[in-house]
Amino acid sequence: MPEHVAIIMDGNGRWARQRGLPRSAGHRAGAKSVRAVVEESLRCGVGVLTLFAFSSENWRRPPSEVNVLMELFMSTLQAEVKRLVEHDVRLRIIGDMSAFSPRLQGQFMDAQRATEHNSRLILQVAANYGGRWDITQATRAIAVEVAEGRMRVDDIDETAISARLSFPDAPDPDLFIRTGGEKRISNFLLWQSAYAELYFSDLMWPEFDTDAFNAALSDFARRQRRFGLTGEQIASRVAT
Ligand code: IPE
Ligand code: IPE
Ligand code: MG
Repeated sequence: MPEHVAIIMDGNGRWARQRGLPRSAGHRAGAKSVRAVVEESLRCGVGVLTLFAFSSENWRRPPSEVNVLMELFMSTLQAEVKRLVEHDVRLRIIGDMSAFSPRLQGQFMDAQRATEHNSRLILQVAANYGGRWDITQATRAIAVEVAEGRMRVDDIDETAISARLSFPDAPDPDLFIRTGGEKRISNFLLWQSAYAELYFSDLMWPEFDTDAFNAALSDFARRQRRFGLTGEQIASRVAT
């Protein structure tokens, strides 16, 4: 079982278009899949689930679509926080919050606070997130510490960079899923996915249900993760 699953929830717009509906209907339908994946993660004992909800590049979409997505964030948060508390889920928003309206930022803060003592599952929602943004903000934090004399250049290593990324306490993703048929990373968790197992599903996100998620988990269970070692080394480790 992967400890950390990250998902690019793609295909809402195409799902809606295929049905003659506006793209916004696809975003609304996608909320159902979020619920299914969260519940199945709880059932299977996944520790961390990170969902890509809005990328730093998605601001380039038509303002009307961006507005629908913002409203959906607000209404979904309001509707789901209680359920998250009941299920012992801790919510964390990752990304550059400063671009959101003060009202939405307040809601994000409230929802995080309401769930901060929960521990069964960490649900990370990536909003205005970009892998390059994440590495950039970590770099800037390190530069400030060096400039202020709190860190030496020699102390800059992979651990120091990881410690300044968006979720230093959570493990790197083990399984990286993208729905919607495209085979690309689209600036999601660039640093953290260095050794993630990639899984691409042709299903559109609103179609991605419990069975589809379990198919991805089963596929992951069949992979041999080598981390640079040989297959023989891995086999001898498992044997001992
Ligand atoms: C993913 O679905 C949701 C967001 C990016 C916010 P899309 O809206 O990208 O759907 P497609 O890829 O156009 O079908
Ligand atoms: C990635 O999907 C971002 C989210 C799912 C939030 P996009 O639909 O924005 O990615 P591209 O533009 O097809 O690469
Ligand atoms: Mg898309």
